[in-house]
Amino acid sequence: MILVTGGTGTLGQHVVPLLRETGADLRILTRQTRPGQFTGDLETGQGLDEALDGVDVVLHLAGSAKNDEQKALQLVRAANRSQKPHIVYISVVGCERIPVRSAVDRGMFGYFQQKRAAEVVIEKSGLPWTTLRATQFHDLTWKVAEGAAKLPVMPALAGVRFQPVETAEVARRLVDLVRGEPSGLRPDLAGPRVYAMAELFRIWLRATGRRRAVLSVRAAGGAYKAVRGGAVLPGRDADLGTVTWEDFLKVRAG
Ligand SMILES: NC(=O)c1ccc[n+]([C@@H]2O[C@H](COP(=O)([O-])OP(=O)(O)OC[C@H]3O[C@@H](n4cnc5c(N)ncnc54)[C@H](OP(=O)(O)O)[C@@H]3O)[C@@H](O)[C@H]2O)c1
Repeated sequence: MILVTGGTGTLGQHVVPLLRETGADLRILTRQTRPGQFTGDLETGQGLDEALDGVDVVLHLAGSAKNDEQKALQLVRAANRSQKPHIVYISVVGCERIPVRSAVDRGMFGYFQQKRAAEVVIEKSGLPWTTLRATQFHDLTWKVAEGAAKLPVMPALAGVRFQPVETAEVARRLVDLVRGEPSGLRPDLAGPRVYAMAELFRIWLRATGRRRAVLSVRAAGGAYKAVRGGAVLPGRDADLGTVTWEDFLKVRAG
């Protein structure tokens, strides 16, 4: 029995059909009330004991801009009250390398600190665990570009490079990890190419037929400095997907 948190999200919608194809018994946790799904909230802990009852593996995908440490804490507490399932967690590349100290750091990169804090909660939970760190999904990069294009000029962080990955490739890797033995921290998963942030926006503008100026902007703080130094790029032993940003856009933008 597998419980998927975040099964209703962008990544979850790729993972759930793949897991169903394997014939796995699935439960999906959501804050909504939907037929066939378990209602629960990882921030308050509500509904978790029922959702975890009889579960062998938890695929923990639920996340938001804030409070992922709290979500992980509630999850591992409830998991420890149940029959101690294997926790498979999706984290983000660079979360252990970005120092978040000031309010500016937190405002821009607090998400990475939360992902690392959630990793630590899971590592120290006493439960069997596996964590995969992925780079930014193409779906997210699209959302960021779309949001930036609402402004008169698209601001791109100067000197910052990303290696975005196809969400479906992350989903496939997670399915393998769910079906395998607990194996701790796995090699990073990233896309096949590195792009400057401004380049990601320019490629997106071409693919969607829009016209906007892209403006390189510098930010303050140690976290930005680390990111500019390549903290969000994968480690040397990373596994690389095959779908480039251009490939993704061909399908998404038509
Ligand atoms: N996007 C990226 O580029 C990227 C890169 C690396 C890692 N990740 C990680 O991948 C995971 C999935 O990302 P995504 O882009 O698929 O996210 P998403 O589309 O924003 O979906 C978030 C999911 O989390 C669930 N959720 C949020 N708060 C919850 C709470 N308090 N209790 C229970 N469920 C809650 C939501 O469920 P309901 O709304 O149905 O309740 C939803 O299914 C996240 O952990 C994220 O940090 C993302």
